[in-house]
Amino acid sequence: MAKAQSQYQCRECASLQPKWSGQCPDCRSWNSIEELPALSGAGKSGFNWHATEGSAEMINLNEVPTTSTIRFSTEIDELDRVLGGGLVQGSVVLLGGDPGIGKSTILLQCLMQVSLQLNAIYVTGEESLQQVRMRAQRLKLASEHLKLLSSTCVEEIVAHASNHKPAVMVIDSIQTIFTNSLQSTPGSVSQIRESTSILVRLAKQNNIAIFLVGHVTKEGQLAGPRVLEHMVDTVLYFEGDSSTRYRLIRAVKNRFGAVNELGIFAMTDAGLKQVSNPSAIFLAQHDKPVSGSIIMVSREGSRPLLVEIQALVAESHTGNPRRVSVGLESNRLAMLLAILQRHGGVPLYNHDVFINAVGGVRISETGADLAVTLAILSSYRDRPVSNRLLVFGEIGLSGEIRPVANCEERLKEASKHGFETAIIPKANMPKTNRIKNLKLIPVNHLVDTLDAL
Ligand code: TYD
Ligand code: MG
Repeated sequence: MAKAQSQYQCRECASLQPKWSGQCPDCRSWNSIEELPALSGAGKSGFNWHATEGSAEMINLNEVPTTSTIRFSTEIDELDRVLGGGLVQGSVVLLGGDPGIGKSTILLQCLMQVSLQLNAIYVTGEESLQQVRMRAQRLKLASEHLKLLSSTCVEEIVAHASNHKPAVMVIDSIQTIFTNSLQSTPGSVSQIRESTSILVRLAKQNNIAIFLVGHVTKEGQLAGPRVLEHMVDTVLYFEGDSSTRYRLIRAVKNRFGAVNELGIFAMTDAGLKQVSNPSAIFLAQHDKPVSGSIIMVSREGSRPLLVEIQALVAESHTGNPRRVSVGLESNRLAMLLAILQRHGGVPLYNHDVFINAVGGVRISETGADLAVTLAILSSYRDRPVSNRLLVFGEIGLSGEIRPVANCEERLKEASKHGFETAIIPKANMPKTNRIKNLKLIPVNHLVDTLDAL
């Protein structure tokens, strides 16, 4: 039998090449050529009509049988929450995050508990069986039912899964897995893509829920192709500062639930513990008000969170002042600085500006605009703002304050934690203030806000 011949394709311009080279001869981009899985007969000499004809049936949309998705609990409530209410049978979940943030820990914890009722396999491609055993001992959970497999070959993993028929399987990590059908090294784009597609097929055909652990590059993206995110059902990211003990898991894609849902954990000496009342963990505890600090209430997923925004404005002696933002979007910061200059009359072109969301939380909603702007102003003028004051609101390019969603829920959360005053968008002002002990100051424009302060 003739040996199946490999083909190569450029990732940028999709041209096909007979052999690998460092630069694509067509579009001249570097390091973009990668190996494709070997073609088997059809396809090489154009499209093969006979091979594809009649293999799938077409039916009317309303005749499709409706089956409800079957979920089971991961035995960790916060993880169930980010998954949209439990793990869906046969779904593939990608868990990404920085090294050492706790990916292996949470999945081992989950599997050890799930294995008490269901078949579960933990595949370790990165650590030795002894290392996993040692971690399990730290977690102090029952371990006699969990099956462990040390393997990096996807064909071997599929064979074990077919024999053992697990309900849940963890692959730690997808970057170490390779398939025999490709010659490129494990971790390369084509290997990751091909191995993932084999595992996705395994999950769907055998109703196995699979967790894939993915590494994150320095830029914060999943190492390997973006296409990995398209292939799986759910993508979860670990967030959080490794210097603090709090860890967040955020759903960035979920075919079976809401995105941006957050699960909050604390790393302890016996694994990750759930934080059931997370609202106040993102506040730095100051004894007295300090300048450059403003508290906002953000809504991540389905619950409100109090978050402290800190800013530092310092005179810059270079022609190119620095703008650094941690936990908030940096383009948004540039925009807010321009609005502050144009509509607030605060010139910051010769100042460095640093902003930070306390506790390693990442805020993506625009409701943080007002808090960021006021924190910058407070630091610039060196005037502390009361730590019993709360703000939220989006700022438009003409300096107007726009409403945010779920205002009442945010205010309730603030009042629960003893806040006395809230600056909120005028359009969000409730007709009757039903929240006791909370004075509301509605604002319409950035100028009103500065007056109100
Ligand atoms: P790990 O789960 O191995 O991270 P990842 O798989 O994302 O690379 O790492 C966890 C870190 O947490 C490691 O630095 C040790 C620490 N840790 C604890 O503090 N307590 C524990 O009980 C465990 C198991 C780990
Ligand atoms: Mg790990």
